[in-house]
Amino acid sequence: MSKLMSPIALRGLTLRNRTVVAPMCQYSAVDGFANDWHMVHLGRFGIGGFGLVILEATGILPEARISYGDLGLWKDEHIAPLGRIVDFLHSQGAAAGIQLAHAGRKASTPVSWRGAADLATDEQRHAAGYEHWLPVAPSAESHDPANADYQVPAKLDAEGIARVIDGFVAAARRADQAGFDTVEIHAAHGYLLNQFLSPLANHRTDAYGGSRENRMRLVLEVTEAVRAVWPEHKPLLVRLSVSDNAEGGWSVEDSVALALELKARGVDAIDCSSGGLAQGRIQSAPSYQVHFAHAVKSGANIPTMAVGVLGDFAAAETILENGEADFIALARGALADPNWPLHANTALGGDHSIWPVQTRRVADYDRMIAAARV
Ligand SMILES: Cc1cc2nc3c(=O)[nH]c(=O)nc-3n(C[C@H](O)[C@H](O)[C@H](O)COP(=O)(O)O)c2cc1C
Repeated sequence: MSKLMSPIALRGLTLRNRTVVAPMCQYSAVDGFANDWHMVHLGRFGIGGFGLVILEATGILPEARISYGDLGLWKDEHIAPLGRIVDFLHSQGAAAGIQLAHAGRKASTPVSWRGAADLATDEQRHAAGYEHWLPVAPSAESHDPANADYQVPAKLDAEGIARVIDGFVAAARRADQAGFDTVEIHAAHGYLLNQFLSPLANHRTDAYGGSRENRMRLVLEVTEAVRAVWPEHKPLLVRLSVSDNAEGGWSVEDSVALALELKARGVDAIDCSSGGLAQGRIQSAPSYQVHFAHAVKSGANIPTMAVGVLGDFAAAETILENGEADFIALARGALADPNWPLHANTALGGDHSIWPVQTRRVADYDRMIAAARV
């Protein structure tokens, strides 16, 4: 069996293989609620053989959402529709994860496919769940002053920071009640926790700003508080922008130091992405972020997830064989081919036996149709 398709355990969770659907915002919720779109979009990855499906950046508080269309876990009513998705993924043999997120100063931005004309009437705004609010951040500085989609946020005070930590904790409890096997704390892509980490976004002079130790404080406090309520047998993941990809920004070396601290606080794997600040730009290309996963894995001796244009089956297998990462996560590649693990299995020498029973009979149907023709 290929390494890609062989099982792997994190704490009490054994994944059927090492393929992961990376979190992908759908901007299709109203008031944070999952609906049929989310069920079908995510369910097909369970049918398609992925080991772990991580649900999109999910607002831990209403103001934590990137847009009014994000999923949420800030109230108990959000649990049941998410639980249906978890149950379906489990029925297909996939594990279910959810990314717990706070967008910080990148909150309250438009949904790209809805223009002013689509939100012109009260009726349209109501149907879309349109909301607009003032974001919060470590410092009162816009993510990108040249882009009117981003507001100048309010600087978080001590009470606001406590609200963030409490929000992560309450959302983690609800994720457990919904049946999720793992949660991923979103500390990447220029969102709130990344904003605290990065010297380019954090200009505080209190205990949460200045030195690297201070800038790491919030993510470590969130992690400790979440780990304290997240069941012992369930793994905890953190997604990092391993580098801001920007001069004077958060670096790979910083991430290795942080990963060691996260590991000491019970984090089981680091999902290694990069970028997200307006100053940082990187061109995506096959395997372009694998070196980040490798650096964190070897520097902090912790399992890592590689992500970023990893759709080539042989390349994915080689990354695992070389010990550069422990998991292969796909976002765009999963959208393009929700059956990617099934196809990878065949390409890497496996057979059709892992296809869902309802689809495994494709060969029989082919024969029947061929027979009917003659
Ligand atoms: C439609 C879409 C939505 C995304 N939403 C999220 C998200 O909610 N959280 C996150 O951390 N990354 C998000 N990303 C980034 C992906 O998880 C992934 O890191 C990135 O797309 C690179 O992987 P890929 O080359 O396989 O697409 C999103 C990407 C896409 C394409």
